[in-house]
Amino acid sequence: MTTIKIALLGFGTVAQGTFNLLQDNAELIRNRTGVNVEISKIFVRNPNKYSHITLPETAQYVTDIDEVLKDDSIQMVVELMGGTTFAKDCVEGALKAKKNVVTANKDLLAESGPYLLDLASKNGVDLRFEASVLGGIPIIRTLYESLAGNRITELIGIMNGTTNFILTKMSEEGLSYQDVLKEAQDLGYAEADPTADVEGLDAARKLAILASISFNRRIFFEDVSVEGITSIDTEDIKFGKEFGYNIKLLGIAKETSQGLSLNVYPAFIPTTHPLASVRGSYNAIYVKGNGIDDVMLYGRGAGSLPTGSSVVSDIMEVAKNVSYNETGRLKPFYY
Ligand code: HSE
Repeated sequence: MTTIKIALLGFGTVAQGTFNLLQDNAELIRNRTGVNVEISKIFVRNPNKYSHITLPETAQYVTDIDEVLKDDSIQMVVELMGGTTFAKDCVEGALKAKKNVVTANKDLLAESGPYLLDLASKNGVDLRFEASVLGGIPIIRTLYESLAGNRITELIGIMNGTTNFILTKMSEEGLSYQDVLKEAQDLGYAEADPTADVEGLDAARKLAILASISFNRRIFFEDVSVEGITSIDTEDIKFGKEFGYNIKLLGIAKETSQGLSLNVYPAFIPTTHPLASVRGSYNAIYVKGNGIDDVMLYGRGAGSLPTGSSVVSDIMEVAKNVSYNETGRLKPFYY
């Protein structure tokens, strides 16, 4: 059986979820791919922070990125550090060194996705990013492959768990925005800077990535008009309920006669709409296409194992491509 050596960049929440799934499901992964995926190196700043984690014999920590980028035996780099500067250098460096890349980095994709996809294609390697949007919900592959025969006309998503958690609590328990934000932070749902969540920026980045794939255009974060939930109060929510509506922070991409409209804003949606019943930190995405009519995917938009599940699915896909000598076939989605 072919063995493919991979390197993890970063060892935070998502990387540990990925690591655990790769260990716990190793046999299943081998059976499904016909490949033995071996973690060879884990790039971190300070290995001592992870002394409580037992690594497999094949794996070691490295603190110099060149130990990954210049190691010819590593065929796949899994970037799970986040950020758009150093992470971009690493992804760029890996692609240029003809290493396949899997990333969960939404900010990087929203900012430089088209460029990096081009680079991967030019170097004949894969760049996969299922985990970059909506954590454990398999929306990227669904859009790329399962719905490829459709002309997508509209995407509507609850794309941010923090704000959905806040709005659900405000609606169901009558709590104030401030009280619930604190709880969302304590539970670890919010981004390090919760502004990105509550001002709708996180959802806008996700919408830019999904709309790019759905509508085959270069769409960047700056193209999305954004309004967050900071000015929503309990009165708005009560008012909506009286008339049969829930307030949700929606990301909406829609073909109109004037072109594509891209918006993130808090909207009243009828309680009978499937998105209205998406509660708490869950995410969902509702896609309309000229073949499927409607499809809705629902699940956990963040978290160690759910997001790790998407990363592992990409690792498996790339591993198969490497073993068949078929990497670099996924063309950039815009034309
Ligand atoms: N802070 C994000 C959310 C995490 O609340 O959905 C996943 O991107």
